[in-house]
Amino acid sequence: MPFSGRFSALAERLDGKPSGVWAVHDRACALQAAGEEVYLLSVGDPDLPTLPSTIDHAVESLREGRTHYAPGSGERNLREVIAAIEERSAGRPCSPDDIIVFPGATNAIYGVMSCLLDAGDEVIVAEPMYVGYRGIFAALGAKVVPVALEVSNGFFLNLERLSAAITDRTRVVFINTPGNPAGNMIPADQLRALADLCLRRDIWLASDEVYSMITFEDRHVSLRTAAERLENVIVIDGLSKSHAMTGWRLGWVVTHQELIEHLLHFSSATIFGCSQFVQDAAAFALQNDEEYMAEVRSEYKERRDFVCDRIASTPLLDCATPDAGMFVMVDVSGLNTDGMRFAENLLEEQRVSVLPGEGFGRSTRDYVRLSLAQPLSCLEESMNRIERFVIARGVDAAGAS
Ligand SMILES: Cc1ncc(COP(=O)(O)O)c(C=O)c1O
Repeated sequence: MPFSGRFSALAERLDGKPSGVWAVHDRACALQAAGEEVYLLSVGDPDLPTLPSTIDHAVESLREGRTHYAPGSGERNLREVIAAIEERSAGRPCSPDDIIVFPGATNAIYGVMSCLLDAGDEVIVAEPMYVGYRGIFAALGAKVVPVALEVSNGFFLNLERLSAAITDRTRVVFINTPGNPAGNMIPADQLRALADLCLRRDIWLASDEVYSMITFEDRHVSLRTAAERLENVIVIDGLSKSHAMTGWRLGWVVTHQELIEHLLHFSSATIFGCSQFVQDAAAFALQNDEEYMAEVRSEYKERRDFVCDRIASTPLLDCATPDAGMFVMVDVSGLNTDGMRFAENLLEEQRVSVLPGEGFGRSTRDYVRLSLAQPLSCLEESMNRIERFVIARGVDAAGAS
C-alpha cells in the first residue's frame, strides 16, 4: 500500500506558489551558472565584507570553546550591549531583559507574529512591503491588510489612510522603517502619532528596522525613540544588512517583558538558542563599528547617488532618491510597460537582473527595484546596459506610434 500520510495545513500554507517576481532572478542565476556574464541587481545580500576583526573575534570565541547551548533569550553580554545602544539612541532606559536574540530578523518577526496573531486576525502592513513578510503571515493564516504608501509622494505613509484600515479584527500594525524596497524613513512625529493611535485601539505596533544603520542625510529615528509610551511597541533589528552579516543569522527584538516571556517560550520550542560564538562576534561588532559603519554609509551613499544620477539622465525612467537602505525603486511606466515585462526583457536583452516591483505590492507594479549591494563598477556597467535597453525601447515605441 502506498504511504498516504498527510501534511499539516501549516505546511500547505507555507508552500505558497513561489512569487513570479523571483522567476527573473532565478533565470538570471541559471544563466550565470551556465557561464554567461549577468549583472545581478535583484538581491539585497551586501557585497561588502564582514568586518575582519569581527571574524577574528568569532574564531577566537570558537577556539575558547564557545560552542555550547546559549541562554534562550540570548547571551547576557550581547543583550547588555544592545540595551546600552538602545538607551543612548532612544534616551530612555532599556534593560537587557527587554531584549531577546534570534537567528536573524526573519525568525524574530515570525516569533513576534506567532505570539500576537491567530488565524483570521488582521495585520495592517504598509505597502510596498518586503517580500519576505508574506510567507510569515501566510503560515499563521493572518489576513494582510495592505495600506499603500503614497508612491508619488516619496513613499509617504498616510496615517489617515492607515487609520481607516483598522477594524475590530486588527491585532497588529507592522511597519518597516527605513523601508525595503523604497528606502523611505517614517518621520518621528508620524511614528509617535501612530504608536498613540495603536495604543488607544489596543493594537500592537511592530517596526522592522533592519536598515536602521544604513541612512544617508538624516539619522534613523526608531519607533522606540519616537513613541511616547512603549506598552504596545515592538522593534526588530539585526546585523544582516548593516554589518554585512547575512550568513551569520543574528537579529533581536526589543519590547516589554511580558511579550519577551512569550517570545522565550516560542524560541525554546523552535530554535533553542543562538550560537554562542556568533553572539560573541555580534557583541564585538556592535562595540567596534563606528569607523566601519561610517564607511558602509558612505559607500552606499556613493552608489545611490551614482544610480539616481544615471536614472535622472536616462530618458523615460524616473526614481525617488531613497533616504536609506540598499535599494532604488525605478518607475518604468514612461516606457509603456510594467515592472515585470521590463525586468524580463532587460534580462533577455542586456543580461541585467532587477526585481519587478509587483513583488512588493500592487502599488509598485510599474516599478523595478535595483539593489545597491554590488560594487560601483558593476553598477556602472549595469546602468550602461539599462540605458541602452531604454533607448532602444524608447525608439521602438516612438517608431510604432
Ligand atoms: C525589511 C527586511 N526585514 C528583514 C530582512 C531579513 O533579515 P534577516 O537576514 O536578519 O533575517 C530583510 C532582508 O532582506 C529585509 O529587507
